[in-house]
Amino acid sequence: MIKKGNLYYPSEEFKKQAWVNDKAIYKKAAKNPVKFWEDLAKDLVWFKKWNKGFVHKPPYFEWFVNGKINITQNALDRHLDKRKDKPALIWEPEPIKEKARVFTYYELFKEVNKFANALKKLGVKKGDRIGIYLPMIPEVVIAMLGCARIGAVHVVVFSAFSSKALNVRLQDTKAKILITADGYYRRGKVIDLKKNADQGIKKTNVKKVVVVKRTGNKVKMRKGRDIWWKELINKESNQCEPRSMDSEDLLFVLYTSGSTGRPKGCVHVCGGYAVQAYWTAKWIFDLKEDDVFWCTSDPGWVTGHTYTIYSPLLNGVTTLMYEGVPDYPAPDRWAQIIEKHKVSIFYTAPTAIRMFEKYGTDFVRKHKLETLRLLGSVGEPIDEAAWQWYFKEVGKERCPIVDTWWQTETGGILITSLPGLGPFKPSFTGLPFPGVKVDFKDGNLVILPPFAPGLLRGVYKNPKRYLKTYWTQYGKKIYFTSDGAYQDKQGLIRVIGRVDDVIKVAGHRITTGELESAIALHKDITECAVVGKADEIKGEVPIAFVISRTKKSSEVIAKEVITQVRKEIGPIASPKQVYLVKDLPKTRSGKIMRRILRKLFTGEDLGDLSTLANPEIVEEIKNMIK
Ligand code: WTA
Repeated sequence: MIKKGNLYYPSEEFKKQAWVNDKAIYKKAAKNPVKFWEDLAKDLVWFKKWNKGFVHKPPYFEWFVNGKINITQNALDRHLDKRKDKPALIWEPEPIKEKARVFTYYELFKEVNKFANALKKLGVKKGDRIGIYLPMIPEVVIAMLGCARIGAVHVVVFSAFSSKALNVRLQDTKAKILITADGYYRRGKVIDLKKNADQGIKKTNVKKVVVVKRTGNKVKMRKGRDIWWKELINKESNQCEPRSMDSEDLLFVLYTSGSTGRPKGCVHVCGGYAVQAYWTAKWIFDLKEDDVFWCTSDPGWVTGHTYTIYSPLLNGVTTLMYEGVPDYPAPDRWAQIIEKHKVSIFYTAPTAIRMFEKYGTDFVRKHKLETLRLLGSVGEPIDEAAWQWYFKEVGKERCPIVDTWWQTETGGILITSLPGLGPFKPSFTGLPFPGVKVDFKDGNLVILPPFAPGLLRGVYKNPKRYLKTYWTQYGKKIYFTSDGAYQDKQGLIRVIGRVDDVIKVAGHRITTGELESAIALHKDITECAVVGKADEIKGEVPIAFVISRTKKSSEVIAKEVITQVRKEIGPIASPKQVYLVKDLPKTRSGKIMRRILRKLFTGEDLGDLSTLANPEIVEEIKNMIK
């Protein structure tokens, strides 16, 4: 890359070969964004072309109206002519002694069809919701695409979420079938997933449980309800016609944390999502025929949905999935995988970069990373130090770094610098993707019509929440992101962080409200408050303050609170610290002042405490934290 002042630009060589290397594209798109997206959409295969690009009925909108499409036809069938024997998916297992598995486009096509046929045999119809609670194994790809093939709606639940979290999502969507596995590897240990699944389907509509045999640990199979994946698909035909879906038919529901306790189901649809997933990846990651693309996100998160699975397959490139933890059995595991599978484009979260940075540079230098040509970052702001380390140690000052901003709600990336154009400015994400209009209102990032084809169409079965969360702050025609952000003189955007209760812990989205609800369920806790605290590696970590009705020691309470959170949400949400306090700072009307608790960690001025009902408690908590 070429450095000019505090900005970086792609090398001439990179620029020349990039899909986008003329900034005129921005102007052209801005002139008529709907037409711009319509032109892009023509590159996909449609059963029937749409008759209207964009229709707005605030707060609702539609894209590619009356168009008919199937995303799997675009991700699989249309590559069979040219790419039949090309690897579609490379899967690297966690245990070192196990061999990687490779699925060519044709093999993946056949597996997806078999599974789709099996679903049909189980009575699955278009529009039915299917729960998917699988670790990072090839079957998660097959299951998702199998659903999409026949018009079933996949509801993927992160495999490290607790059975309670699974239960909430299955109840909300009334899923009749759950796809899960016996277990999976994590740091060499077998995690019994089936046990969680059994717990999680209690009091739901789930009638059948399909179980992938991954680790071979002993699991209980309930007769008439549980079926092994292999046995289910064994005799199925590997031909299944892709169902013609309306552009606005549901493709998937993915739950994410919002301001209040209960997670919300973001609704994504077939047409717009496919168009955005295809084009954002093509241009932002500059995907070319020979690329091996590695997005490290678990399919349980939106980044995994879009950029581990749909985008690379829509583009006909090879996608890589790794089962395990980044630093197992040693810190160089990821570097070793990049070298082994000749990864050319690597997309991860700042938290991983900071973790590796901490391990020191020796382990990365042990591996040739010369196949890399482009790097990406996602999920949280990337600080300048992490950016520089990524740039020097991983990208060898050669690879452009695209810092991509988006959300579960947006379905795909909306803001970033394009790799063939730049400029790249550490800690700034860049410009809105061509055809996307944003604005800044009171320091908040908002998105203006026509939004983007992949933006969510609703909160599952909760129109009130949809309206309130996204379309109330600035009216029904302006999408409110809940992120604070600003633009520099050149228009480059810096996203500062959430303005609501959402915190990003190691890139994972959770809300302090959700944690508080979980903790409050503990019988000994009378009141609690959770705030995010800055963390060197994870970006942010949750800190809990609790009041107990018992005389249990603070150590015991802390342990129980952590267990409680793990049970209700999952280990990723575990508080880093639990403080047992006598009281919480409150206003005279009894509102807990979380702002003050947050400031205790940042060292900011606490402001005027005299309006509090109990100012003395602040000093007490302050001493505790020290
Ligand atoms: C944050 C992840 C700064 C932001 C794709 C957003 C970022 C939330 C960036 C969505 C980035 C994501 N720079 N902040 N490049 N990317 N965020 O739904 O606060 O898990 O609102 O989607 O992550 O998180 P989610």
